[in-house]
Amino acid sequence: MTSNIPDHLIAQMSKFINSKMGLHFPQSRWNDLKRSMVDVTRELGGYKDDPAACIQHLLSAPLAKKQIDILAKHLTIGETYFFRDKNLFHTLEQHIFRKLIDSRRTGGKSIRIWSAGCCTGEEPYSLAILIDQMIPAWQDWNIMLMGTDINTRFLQKAKKGVYTSWSFRDVPEQIMERYFKKAGEKQFEICESLKKMVKFHQLNLVEDCYPSSFSRMDIIFCRNVLMYFKPEVRDQIIGRFIRSLSKNAYLIFSPSESPCIRHAGLHPVQFRGVTLYRKAENGNLKVETRNSKLETRNLKLETRNSKLETRNLKLETRNLKLETRNSKLETRNSKLETRNSKLET
Ligand SMILES: C[S@@+](CC[C@H](N)C(=O)[O-])C[C@H]1O[C@@H](n2cnc3c(N)ncnc32)[C@H](O)[C@@H]1O
Repeated sequence: MTSNIPDHLIAQMSKFINSKMGLHFPQSRWNDLKRSMVDVTRELGGYKDDPAACIQHLLSAPLAKKQIDILAKHLTIGETYFFRDKNLFHTLEQHIFRKLIDSRRTGGKSIRIWSAGCCTGEEPYSLAILIDQMIPAWQDWNIMLMGTDINTRFLQKAKKGVYTSWSFRDVPEQIMERYFKKAGEKQFEICESLKKMVKFHQLNLVEDCYPSSFSRMDIIFCRNVLMYFKPEVRDQIIGRFIRSLSKNAYLIFSPSESPCIRHAGLHPVQFRGVTLYRKAENGNLKVETRNSKLETRNLKLETRNSKLETRNLKLETRNLKLETRNSKLETRNSKLETRNSKLET
């Protein structure tokens, strides 16, 4: 099957994917998208191996779950590894987890953490290892550690918990020995107790609202996921995260994403070389106030635009009248010139 997809169609598909899944395919990546759409077409079946027909069909109706699953399988990028960003994990241990655990030791023994865009599970399992090291009796606690992703194939791998050495780029030997066992040639499986600590679910972050179980979170990780999302989609997702966080809880992005995080509901908190984001007091209220201000601004802009359009329309009508008058004058002039020349002769 070849990718005889015209550019105008791939442009439409790129926009569509961005709005439904947040994924970003600028013109420089249209060839990648064309290649992936060939695979998507083959896997969806029923389009006589014609990716253009498949795209036209996808664009014509809301996406079904099966279609989202297949698109996600072929379009998402799954780069991740255990303890990605050592500095962050050190900060978490020293400044965030220690305080959180101390405060909960006497108050409920409960901790709720969500790794959003967890890929194949290395991030939530790294957090599970940290928790096991800091709360040896964690089985007596109510630990809710959740990993979500849009790609079901990644989640299947996460549930299996079997990894190659590529996932252990930055993992000390003693952690390997304590938490992993050999599972065949160059493969390692995470221990059963930690597998039980993490629950995996499929979730598309672009969806309008998240299940109610994703609430009262102490920490949400969303690293290396939102960097290519459009600013307005990213802001909506951050707004939903803020609603899912409990008071004073933290939202964590990757260092490369931090420069584009500006949100009224979040306060950046600096640690040595690491920026975390804390839910602002009255975070929801601030977000709602900001949204309502934006809505008022949009309304004003719309009114202004419609006034400008009316003015343009009037100007166009006036121009049209002037043009008609000019052309009449020109006709009259040319008649007069003909008459004058006749009189002269
Ligand atoms: C580069 S990985 C990041 C993994 C991990 N958070 C880390 O930093 O190592 C990005 C993940 O985001 C997921 N993703 C992309 N768009 C998504 C969406 N709309 N909803 C949920 N997950 C999404 C991808 O499937 C992929 O697993």
